Amino acid sequence: MIAEIDFNITTVLQSKLQNISLDNVPFGKYFSDHMLEVDYENGKWQTPFIKPYQPLSLDPSLAALHYGQAIFEGIKAYKDADGKAQIFRPYDNFKRFNLSAERMEMPQVPEHIFIDGLRKLVNLEIDWIPAKADHSLYIRPFMFSTDEAIGVKPSSKYKFLIILSPTGPYYASPMRIYAEEKYVRSVMGGYGNAKAAGNYAGALKAASIANKQGFDQVLWMDAFEHKYVEECGTMNVFFAIGDKIITPSLTDGTILAGVTRDSAITLLQDEGFVIEERKLSIDEIMDAYKAGTLKEIFGTGTAATISMIKELRYKDFVMLFDTSKWSIAPMVKSKMDAIKYGQVPDSHNWMVAV
Ligand code: COI
Repeated sequence: MIAEIDFNITTVLQSKLQNISLDNVPFGKYFSDHMLEVDYENGKWQTPFIKPYQPLSLDPSLAALHYGQAIFEGIKAYKDADGKAQIFRPYDNFKRFNLSAERMEMPQVPEHIFIDGLRKLVNLEIDWIPAKADHSLYIRPFMFSTDEAIGVKPSSKYKFLIILSPTGPYYASPMRIYAEEKYVRSVMGGYGNAKAAGNYAGALKAASIANKQGFDQVLWMDAFEHKYVEECGTMNVFFAIGDKIITPSLTDGTILAGVTRDSAITLLQDEGFVIEERKLSIDEIMDAYKAGTLKEIFGTGTAATISMIKELRYKDFVMLFDTSKWSIAPMVKSKMDAIKYGQVPDSHNWMVAV
């Protein structure tokens, strides 16, 4: 067995918390007092540091800045009514992180560094977890290549970090989206199922165009036929059609395997819903809307949680919904929240104490 490396911990003299109200924090704006940082060099992970949150000093030739070898995760920690802190499904994000690392030719991060590190860090920052509905402490583990040389090849050095951000809702109200006809997010054989920084950079253009027209996001379509729906901006997507719930399947490797997606499927099945993970065409969606059987559309994601979609457009065809009448998405959200905030027994063993 390889000996576990001890964490080197330095704490701040004074917390920044006294200058920030956690009552209404926007997503991703504030960062807690400490961060975790560890380097990978000479084929092994070095001592992990938990230290005051601070800027990094990086060489201009840094490989990640040129060739984009960079991956990340999004996880959340919650506080229950007694102030007990718990993290939602961190082992699932840990597994996905290492799948992303494998796809991007990056080293695997050991469980000791990822899981123990994030628990130690969150434990140190327990006061940074907002105790309020729809609020949480967003955990952002990430890794990037750090070779200092210009040349396209997998780096020999990497940096893994975890930073924490107290946060409120990502999408504050039901969303307006349209099915994207020109740009694509991902293609079979690509890396759409990796949580790689490049996937997000490549998606910005379409999102900016959508935002300028008053839409919140785009609904991505498959790259070959521009016919099958894939995922939506920062979320997986679900369609309640008739008495079934349909979500695009993961089999083509073009869609991120969301932890919240998996949790929503489980909770819907608990309630007796039939879930179909399969290809779903925009024509089938429009036909269901015309027939009055398309009941709800919602997205799932760590940041987005469960976000209702009140408008979907495809070309000139507009699908509008009165989300105040919906029952499925609100039920999934309230059941998931009850587990996250420790209000009901955690029957799926999703929560991990810090
Ligand atoms: C998340 O949901 O955690 C994400 O990473 C999406 C977005 C904030 C980039």
